[in-house]
Amino acid sequence: MIPTVLPTYNRAPLSFVKGEGAWMIEADGRRFIDLGAGIAVNSLGHAHPALVKALTDQANMLWHTSNLYGIPNQQALADRLVEHSFADTVFFTNSGTEACELAVKMARKFFYDKGQPERTDIITFSGSFHGRSSAGIAAAGSEKMTKGFGPLLPGFIHLEFGDHEALAKAAAEPTVGAILIEPVQGEGGIRPLPDQCLKGLRDLCDEHGLLLILDEVQCGVGRTGKLFAHEWAGVTPDIMMVAKGIGGGFPLGAVLATEEAASGMTAGTHGSTYGGNPLGCAVGCAVMDIIATPEFLAEVNRKSGLMRQKLEGLIAAHPNVFEEVRGAGLMLGLKCKALNSDVVAAGYAQEILTVPAADNVIRLLPPLTITDDEISQAISRLDAAAASLT
Ligand SMILES: Cc1ncc(COP(=O)(O)O)c(C=O)c1O
Repeated sequence: MIPTVLPTYNRAPLSFVKGEGAWMIEADGRRFIDLGAGIAVNSLGHAHPALVKALTDQANMLWHTSNLYGIPNQQALADRLVEHSFADTVFFTNSGTEACELAVKMARKFFYDKGQPERTDIITFSGSFHGRSSAGIAAAGSEKMTKGFGPLLPGFIHLEFGDHEALAKAAAEPTVGAILIEPVQGEGGIRPLPDQCLKGLRDLCDEHGLLLILDEVQCGVGRTGKLFAHEWAGVTPDIMMVAKGIGGGFPLGAVLATEEAASGMTAGTHGSTYGGNPLGCAVGCAVMDIIATPEFLAEVNRKSGLMRQKLEGLIAAHPNVFEEVRGAGLMLGLKCKALNSDVVAAGYAQEILTVPAADNVIRLLPPLTITDDEISQAISRLDAAAASLT
């Protein structure tokens, strides 16, 4: 008999009932150190007092009004995002997938309104992940995600990550309007796009009049040690998708865009019942007030250095289990020699949570507020997990 919850997930035999900072407490009382953060969502850890206050204060005032009316928290969060980014304007969604939907619509409408309606194609890359909607799976294009779900949304050109020749050729096609890419692939196995490649993509877009769309759903909001990952390369996109960390655990996403790129999105062209609702935006403002500060981001970078150094030691101690560490900030991946799912499961036995990804990688995405002592404890538990596999 089918379970009452549709069985689309391979769940671990764990159920958590409480969270405190970088810790999650299982129903049986065990305390797990959380290097998954709900897949890069709990950017400020669990039950951060500022987020709890922002949410409960708003919950006592007003939960929902729809976008038929002005929403002061939405305006406040949009102002903060614009102040701290390349963007001139923001649309709020409930998830990264919805942000992907709008990014695709926005790019197509841009060219339609410019009198170039044939420029509907969007270049995407192998190993990418942009969500599970029809546009999201068509954008990523992998067989694993698309098989059985056709006919797929047309208009995506899938290239191999790193194939510069194919990229230059595709970018020159008259039907191409945009390039969509994650500055650091998350689900694809923590594969950072080198800074010079992101610069090269910007140049290519400028050369051919294309829009550069960055998917910072997983790598944005302080995760890499900059507020947004593309800042490391010193270039800006035209459109950017954000979600996960911006809500700190409350479902919230956003599309940020320049005035020019967003010029087609006039009244009535897009909408969302819940997107940018008062609760989510109250939390989003509190997240931004903490993360979008030089002091906070400097700490993310310092802790990243500490964690990488300890992970190098871990790899040296377990060369049969681990191969390399990669990533940026506190978005780190350990490429495994053992099966990554075995490493994750061995971690459960040591009360540590990590997240598997493609390319036989385990993702380490702790709350950005993790302490030095918690990093040390996490490494000890990973050490014990690795030892249990050899
Ligand atoms: C890079 C990227 N884009 C889009 C998504 C989809 O976001 P959501 O699951 O919030 O719909 C994800 C989720 O993992 C992601 O990592």
